[in-house]
Amino acid sequence: MSESVVVTTIAGMRSALAGRGPVALVPTMGALHEGHLALVDRAREVAATVVVSIFVNPTQFAAGEDLSSYPRDPSGDLAALATRAVEFVFAPDASEMYPDGPTQVTVHAGAVAETFEGASRPGHFDGVLTVVAKLLHIVQPTHVLFGQKDAQQLFLVQRMVRDLDLPVTVEPVPTVRADDGLALSSRNRYLDEEHRRASVALSTALRAAADAAGDGVDAALAAAREVLTSDGLVKLDYLAVVDPRTFRPVDAGYRGTARMLVAARVGPARLIDNDAIHLT
Ligand code: PAJ
Repeated sequence: MSESVVVTTIAGMRSALAGRGPVALVPTMGALHEGHLALVDRAREVAATVVVSIFVNPTQFAAGEDLSSYPRDPSGDLAALATRAVEFVFAPDASEMYPDGPTQVTVHAGAVAETFEGASRPGHFDGVLTVVAKLLHIVQPTHVLFGQKDAQQLFLVQRMVRDLDLPVTVEPVPTVRADDGLALSSRNRYLDEEHRRASVALSTALRAAADAAGDGVDAALAAAREVLTSDGLVKLDYLAVVDPRTFRPVDAGYRGTARMLVAARVGPARLIDNDAIHLT
């Protein structure tokens, strides 16, 4: 156990890291769980200094979303990070990150950001990419870690880094799941016992799709849809198979590795999941 140094200002973060050599940044919104800690563990492997940012970024929440009720657990977060001997926690408040309110200049995430998660959350990915760009400029890490759990976010961050020539390596980290398959998420805290049980349908559907993928994309989609519609508590938002290079839906003749995406409302929580499927 070794407690992290908590830094709340941009100037303080810059001076703490000056001359430190390779730095890995793990951007988070807190309420940390084992999924976040898998990113921290990977960060430790790629750089000598690990920075975890904890910032519930208001600009990526659309009106009516759960910004005010988003789970916050500062002391639990620091205790979890102490078990990993994380050197620095960057925990600014909103007035430090946005002293004049939301930035006038933003990153525009482009067309892919209007699909899937972006279709029901307008402006979400512009908010994500803008805050990630700010964090990258504040911390100036050599590596930045993102979970595959949020596949569209990971794709768009990779696009931003490539399109804008940002000098950082993006490290994707596989999704960490509960024993029954549910992808860990801060929003799982919203689930009562009955909805928690129902939520396993998302990962079960992805596995059913992977098993059926040998018969093509339509068979994979049908297998997943059957699982998702068999439980009345699961309200499907979208189900799709995308080409990992473009994040566009694949056509019927697609061969090779693709990614199946699912989003559903289960009681009070909106849950997402995804996994690779091999179309032969
Ligand atoms: P947050 O939802 O806190 O997630 C922080 C990071 O943890 C993301 O890269 C996410 O993909 C990863 N993560 C979450 N659950 C995971 C799991 N079960 N397995 C593996 N990785 C997991 O994503 C955000 O915050 C924000 O949009 C942020 C990038 C910090 C910008 O505000």
